[in-house]
Amino acid sequence: MHFNYLKFEKRDKIGILTLNRPEALNALNEDVFKELACFLDDKETIQSIRVLVITGEGKAFIAGADIKAMQEYSTQTAYDFSEIGKKVFDQIANLDVPVIAAINGFALGGGLELALSCDIRVASEKARLGMPEVNLGLIPGFNGTQRLPRLVGAGNAMYLMMLGEGITAGEAYQLGVVQKLAPPETVLEVSLELAGKIASKSPNALRLIKEMVRNGLELSSKDAGKMESKEFGRLFKEDQKEREEGVTAFLEKRKPNW
Ligand code: CAA
Repeated sequence: MHFNYLKFEKRDKIGILTLNRPEALNALNEDVFKELACFLDDKETIQSIRVLVITGEGKAFIAGADIKAMQEYSTQTAYDFSEIGKKVFDQIANLDVPVIAAINGFALGGGLELALSCDIRVASEKARLGMPEVNLGLIPGFNGTQRLPRLVGAGNAMYLMMLGEGITAGEAYQLGVVQKLAPPETVLEVSLELAGKIASKSPNALRLIKEMVRNGLELSSKDAGKMESKEFGRLFKEDQKEREEGVTAFLEKRKPNW
């Protein structure tokens, strides 16, 4: 598959997807979203990896939605743009494999929203993150107003979105936006190391953890608990292959072969 704005490579079982529009700090426009949707829909590629790492080419991870392209938008095209962005970010959030955002530089507006749709965020100590939409008379349009408060609480989310100032990677780490910091220039390496550790775990358990956390956040804690018990039970009959291998490997003092 040929892409203009994406690069993809595989290292062992880890996929590295790089947003490749450095002349515009990887800003997201319709064409970038179309390519992302196409990549994420490619079942064969996704099934061939255990973890996906998303990063950006150049000095930015992603500097947000394309401000120049948005200048001409009408109510309908802006609505459609918001919907296509949300659809793509939901594809990331619901992908069968864990997704790590390797935040190599600016992650602003829609760029931070993309990172929030990933499961784990690793950031360069020099990265700057934020929701600057309020400075443009805009609001986050790709579910950021919903994903950010679920991650860091309403107060912190309001603070970031209402001030519209970027924060350092260190501040983002303290808030829980980012799970791991890396020295500049090593963010991909650190993310790949993390991805390698995750790739050695049970793919089925990883898929279920992701599903339980994502779906559970939309349910009452009682219903989410029931959902968890149901899936836990299934690991002992219908869905038992990897559980059997994991437990057997432990008892035989060897590494599991998933
Ligand atoms: N959209 C389109 N182009 C962008 C862009 C964006 N979001 N961010 C940067 N660029 C372009 C610049 O216009 C510039 O292009 P030219 O060389 O053609 O002028 C190029 O990328 C390099 O950018 P700068 O010269 O500005 O680089 P810098 O290092 O001086 O500053 C920055 C970096 C602080 C990130 C600055 O570029 C910036 O503030 N960008 C905008 C960030 C922003 O406001 N993002 C939110 C967008 S709105 C949004 O995302 C809404 C939504 O959720 C739907």
